[in-house]
Amino acid sequence: MRIFREPARLQKWARRQKLAGRKIALVPTMGYLHEGHLSLIETARAKGADEIVVSVFVNPVQFCPGEDYEKYPRDEKADLAKCRAAGATAVFFPTPANMYLDRHSVYVEEDDLSKGLCGARRPGHFRGVCTVVAKLFNLAHPDFAVFGQKDYQQAQVIRRMVRDLNFDLQIVVAPIVREPSGLARSSRNTYLSESEREKALAISRGLFALKGEAAKAPGGLPARSSLARLAKSLSRAGLEVDYVECVDAETLEPSSRVCKGSCVLVAAYDGRTRLIDNVLV
Ligand code: PAF
Repeated sequence: MRIFREPARLQKWARRQKLAGRKIALVPTMGYLHEGHLSLIETARAKGADEIVVSVFVNPVQFCPGEDYEKYPRDEKADLAKCRAAGATAVFFPTPANMYLDRHSVYVEEDDLSKGLCGARRPGHFRGVCTVVAKLFNLAHPDFAVFGQKDYQQAQVIRRMVRDLNFDLQIVVAPIVREPSGLARSSRNTYLSESEREKALAISRGLFALKGEAAKAPGGLPARSSLARLAKSLSRAGLEVDYVECVDAETLEPSSRVCKGSCVLVAAYDGRTRLIDNVLV
C-alpha cells in the first residue's frame, strides 16, 4: 500500500495509473476509520477498482467557528492498519498547509441543495466540503468516488457539483452502516458516554418506526404531524433536536408527505455531540 503526503506525488502517481488503464476509486474520509468507512472501501473493491485511494484529512475549511475541528479524533497509525487490512492500495495523508497554500483563495460553492438542512445550520460547511472534494478529485483522478449515505445531503451536493462542473467521474453512495443497536456509525460516536449512547438510540429507532409506518400507509403519512411526533420522541429521550425534516430525496425540497421518494433526516445534539442520521422511505 502506497502512502502519499504530498498532493503532487499522489497526482503524478494517479495520472500514471490512469494512463496505464487502471480503474481508480477514491474514498474520501476524515480518518478515525470505522466499519462505515471500511464498507466504502469494500464497495470500491466490489465495483472493480484496480486502485483504491483512501484520503484521510480533517479538512479545516468545512468546520465552522466553535465546532470540533481541534478535538476531532485522529489516529494515523490505526487508520493505516485499517486501510491496509481493508485492501486500500494507496492512502493520502495531506496536511492543511499543503492542501491550502498560503493565500488560498478559490472555493467551490453549491448554491441550491446545500441551502437547507445541515447547510443552514453550519454556514460554510458545504463550501468547505465541495472545495476539498474537488481538490481530491483533481489529485486522485478517480473513475469513481464512494461516499456514505449517512451524510445524505453531502452526497447529493457532491453529485450536483460533479454534474455542474463536468467532473469526469461517477459518484457511488453506499448504505449507512449501523452498530447492532441501530446507531449509525460515526467517528463522532467516540465522544459519547454510555448514557449518551443509550439516548442516541432514539434517533435510529424513531426513524425506523416512521419509515415502517409510512410504508404501511397508502400514499404515506402527512409530514408535519409525523415529524412533530418524531421530534417529540427525541426530546423526550433527552436529545436536543437541531432539525427533523422530510424532503424529496432528489431535490431536497421539503416534502408534505413521508412517502416513497422522500428522505427523513435528523440532526440532534446528544450532550455536546451533534449526531445525524436519515432514512430513505
Ligand atoms: O464525509 C466526510 O468525512 C467529509 O465531509 C469528506 C467528504 C471526507 C470531505 O472532507
